[in-house]
Amino acid sequence: MAKNFDVIVIGGGPGGYIAAIRAAQLGFNTACIDEWKNAKGGPALGGTCTNVGCIPSKALLQSSEHFEHAGKHFAEHGIEVKGLALDAAKMLARKDTVVKQNNDGIVFLFKKNKVTFFHGRGSFAKAADGGYEVKAGEESLVGKNIIVATGSNARALPGTPFDEENILSNDGALRIQGVPKKLGLIGSGVIGLEMGSVWRRLGSDVTILEGLPTFLGAVDEQIAREAKKAFDKQGLKIELGVKVGEIKTGKKGVSIAYTNARGEAQALDVDKLIVSIGRVPNTIGLNPEAVGLKLDERGAVVVDEECRTNLPGVWAIGDVVRGPMLAHKAEEEGVAVAERIAGQHGHVNFNTIPWVIYTSPEIAWVGQTEQQLKAAGVKYKAGTFPFMANGRARALGDTTGMVKMLADAATDEILGVHIVGPMASELIAECVVAMAFRASSEDLARICHAHPSLSEATKEAALAVDKRTLNF
Ligand code: FAD
Ligand code: NAI
Repeated sequence: MAKNFDVIVIGGGPGGYIAAIRAAQLGFNTACIDEWKNAKGGPALGGTCTNVGCIPSKALLQSSEHFEHAGKHFAEHGIEVKGLALDAAKMLARKDTVVKQNNDGIVFLFKKNKVTFFHGRGSFAKAADGGYEVKAGEESLVGKNIIVATGSNARALPGTPFDEENILSNDGALRIQGVPKKLGLIGSGVIGLEMGSVWRRLGSDVTILEGLPTFLGAVDEQIAREAKKAFDKQGLKIELGVKVGEIKTGKKGVSIAYTNARGEAQALDVDKLIVSIGRVPNTIGLNPEAVGLKLDERGAVVVDEECRTNLPGVWAIGDVVRGPMLAHKAEEEGVAVAERIAGQHGHVNFNTIPWVIYTSPEIAWVGQTEQQLKAAGVKYKAGTFPFMANGRARALGDTTGMVKMLADAATDEILGVHIVGPMASELIAECVVAMAFRASSEDLARICHAHPSLSEATKEAALAVDKRTLNF
């Protein structure tokens, strides 16, 4: 006998588990199926984000930043550190503990919200009376509504599959045992910069090979230039405009043949290679053919702006559909879909989804870049304020970077905010709120900000839009 549910969510990542909780809150009898296994074969809810993405990468970024501070920056504060040593195994174990706390947190949330959890693979079986039959491992479930939240996988270089020993995806990159002497990365996107930073701080000689001639093409150019300067100074080697050729693995590590931007043949020999060239939507094992669920040529589930698929009652959210591959985007879609199923007006504002790269300095932005506004012929005003002129940043000992605000020339509405510098990940939240409320730069400039705080740099950038900074 199949078990019946109002809502069945396939995938327990940030998109799926949040959708399940919201659906249950709205009174639906809800199930969530997730197949992720921890080292002991048990469930590990939270998907890519919790297990091999956002959470473990931020744990290692934090640990490695402490290590770098202790070794290189404590002395400026009059703190002498003698005999500084790295226990890489303990650092990785702490990261695993942080992951487990998050896994367990979701189990608790499912119990609290009465979401029924099935550990195993979810796959479509057939259309059923009043919904769809879905297999959860060996069990048969029938759901009136199905939310597909099956996420994404790392993209491999053609002909170079991940072995997670020498050629690493994000998974292997987060559990390298010991610090490799020489580390190579392909792709200087978000993962390349974050993971490159982790291992550089811990002592690896890191080289990142990037195919495009421009650094962080999606980021505001001025901000990307500033970030690149900081990474160069740190010794993170980034080669732009390369063409990667043959990759050979042997006893001594990995050898990468490539052509540099001048067209010269080069070779890079490293102990480990991380390939971070983007991710692909995942529908492995979902059996979409059984019900005729439409995928596009990239393998993403085709959805409209409201996450409806071609099948009535079947929705899809997160990395497996179009749009940025971000945990918070997946979560917003999950909430919105649950509310739409309940007949409410779930809404996701794609113009105010923030991006953060958790390097040092951090890079964060929301809205349009200056180059996008120029290309669209929008008339705008720009204001920047450097952290060099911010008292809190000086006290912290981290004055790299700036806040840059772009506002409509005629209406003064904020169109984009771009930050490179300390705690950019936290500072961007205020700008997201401002843009969600369609604030003007003058609105932000007139709001009282605590002193001394990094957030004063945001207020000053807003003042700079009107060319009237007070502290610069
Ligand atoms: P996922 O998190 O991929 O979850 C999908 C889940 O579905 C998985 O548990 C999978 O096992 C399960 N599943 C798949 N198919 C089936 C099936 N047929 N049956 C049962 N279960 C199935 N984003 C940020 O916003 N901030 C960050 O700092 C950040 N850092 C990242 C760092 C790294 C190294 C990586 C790789 C990604 C990072 N991301 C970050 C991106 C973020 O992890 C994803 O955008 C997010 O996890 C997408 O959520 P999702 O729910 O769509 O999919
Ligand atoms: P990415 O899209 O950020 O960067 C990939 C980079 O690889 C690009 O610069 C691209 O030009 C380059 N590239 C592609 N093919 C190449 C080739 N053959 N040779 C050389 N360079 C090549 O992808 P990444 O870093 O793999 O991350 C995947 C996604 O995961 C991100 O786009 C983001 O959505 C998410 N993520 C988010 C994080 C955050 O929010 N802080 C952190 C990490 C990942």
